[in-house]
Amino acid sequence: MMENPFVDNQSEPDESTLVWTPLCPLSALPSEGVHYVELKNRMFAVLWTEPVSEPLEAVSDEELVERLRVLDDRCPHAGASLSAGHIEEGCIICPWHHWAFDINSGKCPDADVYAVRRYNVRIVGDVLEAKI
Ligand code: FES
Repeated sequence: MMENPFVDNQSEPDESTLVWTPLCPLSALPSEGVHYVELKNRMFAVLWTEPVSEPLEAVSDEELVERLRVLDDRCPHAGASLSAGHIEEGCIICPWHHWAFDINSGKCPDADVYAVRRYNVRIVGDVLEAKI
């Protein structure tokens, strides 16, 4: 059977190869929408689960981690940049053909063989880090 190059089968990466990596200062993230971050030739979509209305200093690191998502930026359908999309009903909507990807699981609700990888995050000082 021929492999579909656009399907990310979400095989779990070897945990020992993942390292906490600074992505960007929290202050660089706008309070809503999807943001593009490129690091070492890898592309990520960074987003808040809901718009931030309070000063970040007033929110605990634990809550910030709960409210942040880092996903692969490349749409598994045909490669669009998901950070150019928008958030709707808990999904990131691809800008090209409007496929949806759940911001928690990364899966496409209509065809969960298609998914984008979600990365663990943490806050160090005022920097967002992801385990990539
Ligand atoms: S490239 Fe994303 S839905 Fe087609």
